[in-house]
Amino acid sequence: MRSHASFSALIVGLGLLLAGCASDAELDTLKPQGTTARQINDLLNPVMIIAGVVLVLVCGGVLWMALKNRVPTYEGDDEFPKQISHNNVLEIGWTIAPAIVMTVVAVLTLVTHFEINSTEANAMEVQVSGESASWEPKVVVIGQQWWWEYRYYLTEDVNADWLGDPRDLPPADIVTSGQMIIPAGEEIELLVSSRDVIHSFWIPALNGKRDARPGFFAPWKLEADDPGVYFGQCTEFCGLSHSRMRMQVVAMDDAGFQTWVDQQMQPAEAPTSEAALRGLDAFEANCASCHLVDGVNDDSYTGATTESGSAPNLTHFASRTTFAGGYLNTYNADGSLNRDDISAWIRDPAAMKDNKADGLPDGTKPRGMPNLGLSERTISDLVAYLETLGQKPTVDVIAATEVE
Ligand code: CUA
Repeated sequence: MRSHASFSALIVGLGLLLAGCASDAELDTLKPQGTTARQINDLLNPVMIIAGVVLVLVCGGVLWMALKNRVPTYEGDDEFPKQISHNNVLEIGWTIAPAIVMTVVAVLTLVTHFEINSTEANAMEVQVSGESASWEPKVVVIGQQWWWEYRYYLTEDVNADWLGDPRDLPPADIVTSGQMIIPAGEEIELLVSSRDVIHSFWIPALNGKRDARPGFFAPWKLEADDPGVYFGQCTEFCGLSHSRMRMQVVAMDDAGFQTWVDQQMQPAEAPTSEAALRGLDAFEANCASCHLVDGVNDDSYTGATTESGSAPNLTHFASRTTFAGGYLNTYNADGSLNRDDISAWIRDPAAMKDNKADGLPDGTKPRGMPNLGLSERTISDLVAYLETLGQKPTVDVIAATEVE
């Protein structure tokens, strides 16, 4: 009876384990879609095969020994198995064999280590405000509670003097959040840091994980073979909404990337509708102390009142198909603005995504956007204004980047 129960438990457990293996999982580490991820996979596969062979040999050997030397009923010392010791061939063999196996694995690991930590010079021409710039593809990635910021310095290379406190980075040509846009087929160097606690940046289809630590800029890189959307998730526990700190890499062909750069380089245009104009006033009165909109409050902006000292740059809010740290969709499936979620977010952010632990002492800075107690009319005006900020993506992009 006992063995029946444990066998059933094993089968049920295996079933549950395998049910976790969706064929179209967004965070599948075993389907590399870029050079670096493929190099890691090319290390994983032979090591798993070697480990599998060792597992079968060791477990098989133990079972074979046990069965061969089994004594069905012990009836005295005559049946005690023959004792063996000091077999030189065996002892030398099982010292040398593992040493050879470990040497092979070590060499494979070192080769991969150097491959994934090397960078190549692959400067590309990018048109920036009508001028041609030579850009060595590089993006500064900053984690904070609970979203990712991406800073593009297109016209000057990231200077080593900047890499102290990420709160002091100079203004970038393009600042975006949630979605990192890259040209496909190019190696993109990353500098990964944090403005508050330790996070970890991870786009499994393109590379492994890299911790984002305050005060450090860790080098990393990724490359996507083809245009497409690659999902990611913060993988270092970083507080209440760690699980809702998501990101996407959107790889475009060169022409698409250039179009995106052209659009992102534009400052915000003055809105035309009555509601959006009222929304602009409401933005300046309620939001401008934390959020930046280039062309509106860039002269007065000195950082947010949050723990991280920063909040997403909203200049091109409507060009991003996710918001709230990659957790909510900016658009509905039919391409219309997701007014419900954007309004609900402005109404009470913590109701959409936890950002405030109970029992914090007075004076603790907010970790996310606080509840501003805005009227429904103001919320509706702000949504109308946000919709004017930036170029709306195509329905195809909206569908490909939709989050659940
Ligand atoms: Cu950021 Cu977990």
